[in-house]
Amino acid sequence: MSQTMPQDKRKILVTCALPYANGSIHLGHLLEHIQTDIWVRFQRMRGNETYFVCADDAHGTPIMLKAQELGITPEQMIDGVREEHMSDFNDFMISFDNYHSTHSDENRAFASEIYNKLNDNGHIKTRTISQLYDEEKGMFLPDRFVKGTCPKCKSEDENGDSCDNCGATYSPTEVINPRSVVSGSTPVSRDSEHYFFDLPAFEQMLKDWTTGGSLQEEMANKLNEWFESGLQQWDISRDAPYFGFEIPNAPGKFFYVWLDAPIGYMGSFKNLCDRENIDFDAFWKEDSDAELYHFIGKDIIYFHSLFWPAMLEGSGYRKPTSVYAHGFVTVNGAKMSKSKGTFIKGRTYLDHLSPEYLRYYYAAKLTNRIDDLDLNLEDFAQRVNSDLVGKVVNIASRCASFITKRFDGMLSNNVDDQALADEVMAAGDKLAELYENREFGKAMREIMALADKVNEYIAVKEPWVLVKDDSKQKEVQDVCSLGINLFRILMIYLKPVLPALAEKTESFLNDELVWEGHKSLLADHKINKFKALMQRIEMDKVNEMIDASKESLAEKVEAKPVTGPLVDDPIAPEIQFDDFAKIDLRVAKIVKAEHVEKADKLLRLELDLGGETRQVFAGIKSAYQPEDLEGKLTVMVANLAPRKMRFGMSEGMVLAAGPGGKDLWILNPEEGAQPGMRVK
Ligand code: MSP
Ligand code: ZN
Repeated sequence: MSQTMPQDKRKILVTCALPYANGSIHLGHLLEHIQTDIWVRFQRMRGNETYFVCADDAHGTPIMLKAQELGITPEQMIDGVREEHMSDFNDFMISFDNYHSTHSDENRAFASEIYNKLNDNGHIKTRTISQLYDEEKGMFLPDRFVKGTCPKCKSEDENGDSCDNCGATYSPTEVINPRSVVSGSTPVSRDSEHYFFDLPAFEQMLKDWTTGGSLQEEMANKLNEWFESGLQQWDISRDAPYFGFEIPNAPGKFFYVWLDAPIGYMGSFKNLCDRENIDFDAFWKEDSDAELYHFIGKDIIYFHSLFWPAMLEGSGYRKPTSVYAHGFVTVNGAKMSKSKGTFIKGRTYLDHLSPEYLRYYYAAKLTNRIDDLDLNLEDFAQRVNSDLVGKVVNIASRCASFITKRFDGMLSNNVDDQALADEVMAAGDKLAELYENREFGKAMREIMALADKVNEYIAVKEPWVLVKDDSKQKEVQDVCSLGINLFRILMIYLKPVLPALAEKTESFLNDELVWEGHKSLLADHKINKFKALMQRIEMDKVNEMIDASKESLAEKVEAKPVTGPLVDDPIAPEIQFDDFAKIDLRVAKIVKAEHVEKADKLLRLELDLGGETRQVFAGIKSAYQPEDLEGKLTVMVANLAPRKMRFGMSEGMVLAAGPGGKDLWILNPEEGAQPGMRVK
């Protein structure tokens, strides 16, 4: 289908994969959200009725365990994480119409309904399977919560389902000397009845869908490999305790997180429809003429291209128009690494750099294929500075002041170089096609090539020379007016990528940038005073961001015990009196407390233990100013093995209580306590 002709308004629903609710948004997630957001903003600019929804993926064992570790309920944790994710995405200008949660009423209703329909249609089977069970913790162990010796090569401390040493894959029940990662105990094999989705029954439908022509070639190839090796029934149930939805008429059995996760796309959209009076069925009924696209990473293709279309088909809903997979982000040529400081959280990035730099860089490197994308930080700074600041914004800054100072902000009604104007205006159709096909890198190169031409035109005309000649004033106005007009068109083309820069441009130009605007020039039009539109990236800022990313790891290690299991926590295994007696608790006097450079959670404390002085780094900066601590008595663990941190040695731990953040209280012994006293 050619997208270059004006066409009827399309109805489009777009999703990004739902981020897990137990971790922060990082620059890997952001590739997906930025890619999708650019596509969505483009569709909206073209006048298509476009909705963009997402949600947090809130269920599953890791989330349940993480909440236990933090001493809060899973509901509390997922609410907090969702707030954090929404604010991160908002600050990267990801323009969701809705950001919901899979732990929602809508999702529970759809999950039950879809399951019941699949069951009624004979697509759910049950069978008893044997799994490793942690008797201490009272739970079945997912593969990744088992460690032990590889059954093939005998390497120790390998994963429950695969060996990093020899590459073998196996079942956790085959692992030699298995150990539960949750409690450390030795798990036993236990039987339980599981529910399976009969994927093989959908093979022909999936083959037809695959060859339907709308999937990426690499994805179709991947699917063919899977067809060749044979489709398997899919285990969709998990035993209690599990944070998720209970399966209808199956007490104690819960939907596996991946069953209700994609259904979360529907749940989020339904929530939006109810709020804004949109016709849900028009998008999801079997014969819907709306388009449905899922943007995902390459690691979750299996779920989206096999299970999901089959679940939809089996329960009488429409299938996705397409699933678009992207590759993984690497930083400086390697996998994102916490120790190198290249595992960069969205928030850490925002603390140092503007979101549009990243949006542009990703756009400039994105294709519609599944290749990985390298964020090379030197190249990032260089590319953004040279393209956006040096080429695009430069056009406006070279021309604007002549127009405002000499012509009272009025653009001329004469086109100085019609051929150049035509060329820039005509590029719109090709660029629309590139955007539509997710060839953003190619689109950015086209736009920058046009920017080069415009800059060349200005360089040749030299308005700054003409301006000195009284007889050439009209020419100055014509040249600068064309420069500004072409800058305007380039900013129309860039608006899906750079919404904030586009907004500033709109107030500078007194004109709303709409897609169809690329076909005309502003004449006899008054513009406003030019203000700097974009700053260059300083490499210092990039380096500070890397340093801050290294730090958050060091802090995580240290801060965890302080914010760790503080309330009655079912996960901490019961200990005996002897274990407790091993802890040497002492009264300590805080003689000195100070900020640690580049640490946003840690304070460095010097503690007097009645003669002996200890240094401890404590993650309590959110709750205390250093000066408030000096002179106070507290309780410390005096015999904790010293730990080397990025900032120095930490020789013990001070005890604090509270949910965290500002609400964290250093345990403060009563008057009369002396430094060094034992705490009983
Ligand atoms: N919760 C599931 C998705 C359920 S969708 C019904 C999940 N969550 S995730 O948080 O692990 O990943 C969310 C998305 O981010 C996925 O599409 C994943 O591929 C993508 N990425 C995670 N790390 C990434 C990179 N380093 N680079 C690019 N994308 C990455 O999977
Ligand atoms: Zn092995």
